[in-house]
Amino acid sequence: MKIINKIDDCREEAGALIKKGVSIGLVPTMGYLHEGHMSLIRLAKKECERVIVSIFVNPSQFGPNEDFKKYPRDSRRDEKLSEEGGVDYIFRPAAEEMYRDRHSTYVEIEGLSKIMCGRFRPGHFRGVATIVLKLFNIITAQKAFFGRKDYQQLVIIKKMVSDLNIDMEIIGCPTIREKDGLAISSRNRYLDNEERHNAGIIYESLKIVGSGIVSENSDLDKLRRKAIKNLRGSKYIKRIDYFDIRDAETLEEIRDKGSKDILVATAVWIGNTRLIDNIVIEKGKQRQIDI
Ligand code: PAF
Repeated sequence: MKIINKIDDCREEAGALIKKGVSIGLVPTMGYLHEGHMSLIRLAKKECERVIVSIFVNPSQFGPNEDFKKYPRDSRRDEKLSEEGGVDYIFRPAAEEMYRDRHSTYVEIEGLSKIMCGRFRPGHFRGVATIVLKLFNIITAQKAFFGRKDYQQLVIIKKMVSDLNIDMEIIGCPTIREKDGLAISSRNRYLDNEERHNAGIIYESLKIVGSGIVSENSDLDKLRRKAIKNLRGSKYIKRIDYFDIRDAETLEEIRDKGSKDILVATAVWIGNTRLIDNIVIEKGKQRQIDI
């Protein structure tokens, strides 16, 4: 496994592979790899001949009062896990390498980046889209792999790729969960024991809506209120930023089931930790996926 820090070196390595007709799968991450990332790596390895994992805690996607400084970092562990996972290259640039002096170009995805998490994290998706496009330009992979845990991010990246005619396939991968249903995330490590013990309530609340829809209950607003009541019943849930039921493709809010894939997504605070999660209920069959 090769570790690359410089953009030019990365471009050169990727370029040489492309010239030889070798397919590249890109797994963009902010490091502190966990089972969720490893599942993306496994899929990338299945679908592509070489896998590049980028590791970069991207300052432009964190707000001024967010956790950029304390975001968990462990490069040795990341290297070990990547090596074990069969990764071919780690691209791990420094902040000054990715954002050179007087960087002033950003990618704005209108509409989609202002709803849900965008309402509470202004500028977040602008930072995400900008860094992801930079990575796509440096590593012209055939496929890039993203977790569906960050569902809004996935939709936004797909929209950017379509709007800007980027020749890359974006693959959304299932959320990996702990035994109690908590979606695996680097931020879970901020939770203390008690908070962690009670964090399963997020998934439980999503499932209230999910099972309601599956069992033919079509009053979405009632289901939503029931789920929110469940969350509010826990003393560990300090705040609910949103709990939304939306069209899984367009992210438009929906009032009735119709014949669409339905996204149920939430962002809540457990103590000082903000966690997001979602489920998607497949159209027609109304069978839950991702559960
Ligand atoms: O999902 C993440 O870890 C980040 O938002 C990403 C896509 C690597 C961009 O920094």
